[in-house]
Amino acid sequence: MTKEFSLDRRAYLKTVGVVGTGLGVAGCSGTGDGGGSDGPTAITAGTAPGFPPFEMKEEGELVGFDIDLLEAVVSEAEGYELDGWKEFEFKSLIPALNSDKIDVVAAGMTITDKRDETIDFTDPYYSSDQAIVVRKGGDFAPSELSDLSGHKVGAQKGTTGESVVKSELIEAGDLKESNYNAYDNYVLAVQDLENGNIDAIVIDQPVGQTFEANRDVSIQFTYETGEKFGFGVRTDADEMTTALNDGLAAVREGGTYEELTSKWFGQ
Ligand code: ARG
Repeated sequence: MTKEFSLDRRAYLKTVGVVGTGLGVAGCSGTGDGGGSDGPTAITAGTAPGFPPFEMKEEGELVGFDIDLLEAVVSEAEGYELDGWKEFEFKSLIPALNSDKIDVVAAGMTITDKRDETIDFTDPYYSSDQAIVVRKGGDFAPSELSDLSGHKVGAQKGTTGESVVKSELIEAGDLKESNYNAYDNYVLAVQDLENGNIDAIVIDQPVGQTFEANRDVSIQFTYETGEKFGFGVRTDADEMTTALNDGLAAVREGGTYEELTSKWFGQ
C-alpha cells in the first residue's frame, strides 16, 4: 500500500516536473550538498574584443565566432553552464585565467608550446596563418617578410603576430626594434596603418581578411604558420577541459560548428 502510494506520488511529481531534477529535491530537503545532485558549475569566460570576426563589440554588445562557439560548446558540456563574459587586453588573458578572474579563454588564442607551460588548451577549433596587411591602393607591396625591412610594422602585444615580427624580423636583424609598434589591440593598429603612421601589420589571416572587407587595408601576402586556436583553461581544470572537449565534439557532430563558420566566415 505504502509502496503503491509512493509510486503514484512519484508518477505525479514526474508529471509536474519535479522528480529527477535533483535541484528541486535538494532545495526542499534543505540538506544542501546532496552528494552529486548539485546544479551545473558556472564558468566565466574571458576574451579580447577588436579581433573580428572572432570577437568584437557591435553597438556595445560582445559578438563573434568565439562568443557563439563557446556558448554552444558549454551548453553541450555536461555539468557546466556559462555565467558570462569578461573583457581584457589580449596580453592580460592568461594572467586573468591563472588568477581565477576567468575560467576559460575564448580569444582566437593560438596553442603554442610557450603558453602550454602555464595553461592548458582544449582541442583545436580553428586554424590560421599570419597575413601581412598594408594600406589599400598604396605603393608599398612587400612579397616576403624581409621586404618589411626599413618600414614601420605593427602587431598586437602578446600575440603570435608579434612573435613573428620579433623572431623573424628583429632578431634576424631585418628590422630595427624602433620600427616595431606594439598595440593593445589590432583595431588601433589598423587605424595607424590607414593614417600612414605604420606601413604594415602582421595579423591572423582570417582577421586580416575581415579588416580588408571593412577598412582601407588589404592583405599583401600570407606567412604560413599553421596555427591552431584552442580555448585556454587552467592546468588544474582537467574535468572541465574534458567536458569542453566533449561539448566541442558534440557541436561539430550536430552541425552547429558548420552553421557558425558560415555565419561568421561566410563559407
Ligand atoms: N592568434 C593570435 C595569438 O594567439 C592572436 C590572437 C588575438 N586575439 C584577440 N582576441 N585579440 O596570439
